[in-house]
Amino acid sequence: MKSLNVGMIGYKFMGRTHSNAWRQVDKFFPVPVKPVLHTVCGRDPKAVKAAAKQLGWQKTATRWQDVVKDPEIDIIDINTANDTHAAIAIAAAKAGKAILCEKPLAMTVREAEAMLAAVKKAGVVHMICHNYRRIPAIAQAKKMIAAGDLGRIFHYRARYLQDWIVNPEFPLVWRLQGKVAGSGAHGDINAHIIDLGRFLVGELDEVCGHLETFIKERPIEGAKGKKGRVTVDDAVITLGRFKNGALCNLEASRFALGRKNHIQIEINGSKGSLVFDFEDMNRLKYYNNADPADRMGYRDILVTEGAHPYAGAWWPPGHIIGYEHTFVHTVFDFLKAVAKGKPVAPTFADGLENQKVLAAIEQSSKTRRWVKI
Ligand SMILES: NC(=O)c1ccc[n+]([C@@H]2O[C@H](COP(=O)([O-])OP(=O)(O)OC[C@H]3O[C@@H](n4cnc5c(N)ncnc54)[C@H](O)[C@@H]3O)[C@@H](O)[C@H]2O)c1
Repeated sequence: MKSLNVGMIGYKFMGRTHSNAWRQVDKFFPVPVKPVLHTVCGRDPKAVKAAAKQLGWQKTATRWQDVVKDPEIDIIDINTANDTHAAIAIAAAKAGKAILCEKPLAMTVREAEAMLAAVKKAGVVHMICHNYRRIPAIAQAKKMIAAGDLGRIFHYRARYLQDWIVNPEFPLVWRLQGKVAGSGAHGDINAHIIDLGRFLVGELDEVCGHLETFIKERPIEGAKGKKGRVTVDDAVITLGRFKNGALCNLEASRFALGRKNHIQIEINGSKGSLVFDFEDMNRLKYYNNADPADRMGYRDILVTEGAHPYAGAWWPPGHIIGYEHTFVHTVFDFLKAVAKGKPVAPTFADGLENQKVLAAIEQSSKTRRWVKI
């Protein structure tokens, strides 16, 4: 089988999930090309060597520019903080590499447009890593909605809640700095439920939102006693209307004590409803309004059968899977796209559309008005 060399930039949280995916994918899925964990890149030479050893990469680099230029590399996998996505992706496109980029695609709509233009001009395969699309239960929900099982969609209701910065002494890490992260809970986790809304229901037409920063200053890391300004949102609420007339209601927060990575989605249509809860991610709840009156109620689909998306590649029915598997599914679909030479959704065009929704919500929050996408 033909193999392709991967160059991965950034090796921390997402770097670990992606490394695991590259290592696992051909062991479980019928990949058309075998990925080779060729080079991992990070700025600290000692730390990147340790990461390479732990995560299974053959070589290391300390400058992403060198990886992007390396003629041996076929795929660039971007797992760095948000302020570097555009420069790396545009250079990778110019060098003719296939690109997998973490979300949010960019810092601004303008950056996202430049990234899309670059991959289009170069004709390279590209994908943004909205891995939650590839949870079997979410992919199953998509299948059912596309088949018309829910009828006309009235409501998309989603919340993505975390609680890791409630303590005001939590330091001013990159995710709380606007110049590195772009935004806070908004681009980090609201972006995911916006993407899932676009995936499951359709394009948003207009939005009304409010971004809030509860803790305005935090300790600067490594500068004892000094505080710096928090320049991103801590939480964001959004109302919206999809082009197909469905209503959208989103909440994303890093201030929901007790909620660690809590994603709940409910979709109500004219024929039925679906409910998903990430903490019980192998299940999809389905209410079918055509059920006989004496047995109506939510049924509980354990999405682990061969009939369900991705699930059959893993274990026998009922043997559940987890978070890391969503990245394996993502790279499987990405590798198929690379082999065919065709982009795979979510593409950079999806990343740009997501960025437009994020920007519209920010504008709405500033102007206190509804904003058209
Ligand atoms: N798909 C998801 O669910 C998901 C989850 C978390 C994070 N993310 C996204 O993944 C990206 C990385 O987030 P993370 O949680 O892994 O952050 P992290 O802080 O754990 O890791 C960031 C990595 O980027 C590296 N880095 C930063 N600038 C660099 C540069 N100029 N050159 C080389 N390396 C550089 C850092 O050294 C580090 O290895 C972000 O865009 C984030 O939004 C996606």
